[in-house]
Amino acid sequence: MEFATIKGFKDILPEEIPYWQETEAVARRTFQVSGFQEIRTPLIEAKELFARSIGEETDIVSKEMYTFQDSKGRGLSLRPEATASVVRAYIQNRLYQQDPVQKLFTIGPMFRHERPQKGRFRQFHQINAEFFGDPGPKSDAEIIVLAESLFHAFGLRDLTLLVNSLGCPTCRPDFRAELQIYLQDREDKLCTDCRRRSHTNPLRVLDCKVPGCRETVADAPLILDVLCDDCRRHLEGLQEYLDLSGVEYTRAPRLVRGLDYYTRTTFEFQTERLGAQNAVAGGGRYDGLVQQLGGPDLPAIGFAVGAERLIALLQELRPCPAGKPDLFLAALGEAAEKTCFGWATALRRAGFWAEMGYGFKGLKAQMKKADKLGVSTALILGENELAEGQAVLRDMQSGRQETIGTRDIVPLLVKRLTENPISRA
Ligand code: HAM
Repeated sequence: MEFATIKGFKDILPEEIPYWQETEAVARRTFQVSGFQEIRTPLIEAKELFARSIGEETDIVSKEMYTFQDSKGRGLSLRPEATASVVRAYIQNRLYQQDPVQKLFTIGPMFRHERPQKGRFRQFHQINAEFFGDPGPKSDAEIIVLAESLFHAFGLRDLTLLVNSLGCPTCRPDFRAELQIYLQDREDKLCTDCRRRSHTNPLRVLDCKVPGCRETVADAPLILDVLCDDCRRHLEGLQEYLDLSGVEYTRAPRLVRGLDYYTRTTFEFQTERLGAQNAVAGGGRYDGLVQQLGGPDLPAIGFAVGAERLIALLQELRPCPAGKPDLFLAALGEAAEKTCFGWATALRRAGFWAEMGYGFKGLKAQMKKADKLGVSTALILGENELAEGQAVLRDMQSGRQETIGTRDIVPLLVKRLTENPISRA
């Protein structure tokens, strides 16, 4: 085989597509009833947009972006996430002028040059929601409950919700300094990356997966101990709302996320069922980002669900929600083929899934195919039936057959299939 997908990229084959369609449909419905509107942004943006919002020092920007220069020498990147793009769109299109409060969602592919493994790809898909213009904590709760409702709608009840606060520009600098001293005193125990991070971005060390670093940060200072009064009240307010909505959560004082734009609330939905890639969704508040990217000083919060990880959980939970044809038309001989083609076309125009045999196969082969497709009714038209103005309807399960006249057969079939839509998924 000369060509194959590049490492970390994969085809989504027809047999998996029903999961994707269901996932997107449920997500769209869930967003809609919470007042979220869809937005679609380009897959390519200025590299600087991501560097400025996600942070130069993050793994995403420093190691994982697909960046290239266009013919004019501009640095462009495939989007590694959606938040920066949605914020840019909010500012560029002055959506805040109609109303600063905007609830937006977007679904689509993201690109990160990470080491591929189970649940981790270089092209993956996110279901992403962003809520602009409300300082919270009600909107924090709304966003978290929305993510939870999505999982609930899919029947996923065993995810763990971790919640933390990362403080704000008032209290985080003190925490950062305290953490920096703690880490620099233990520099020899940190991996090479974290030694550098302890100087440039110490909070990132809390997120490192290297065992030595994990051990070292186990006793590191906790941000919860140094939150300013406003951040503390915000967190308490959020907890009150979460309690009110009956959403269970765990306080996770060491949860930092891999993106630098967060302030105050951060959260993750985790599972034990996917191995090392345990985060199914993550999000948080990013109150400074709109202004930082050149917009007005407006707060925001959002989250993204990893669609591949969500679908991996769904695949464990239930079989593929595939549909099946309403009717299989088995034709024997060229004249019958042509007649069946006409009927299939008419049925399809009427909104029914009519399937046919191809390649002039015999009756046995066509019935085998009809069985494989899971249809409950097949129509059989041989040359004799055609000549006599008749066709045979066969109940695929019982094998019972019935002869029907071919005059006005399409309205008759439409009536039958509407009355008895057994095969409709
Ligand atoms: P994130 O935590 O980087 O956050 O990604 C969100 C989710 O995307 C993860 O929890 C995971 O399920 C999925 N994901 C991330 N990387 C991969 C990968 N390489 N392969 C498969 N799935 C992956 C964000 O991207 C933020 N923009 C979320 C957000 C929205 N915060 C505020 N608004």
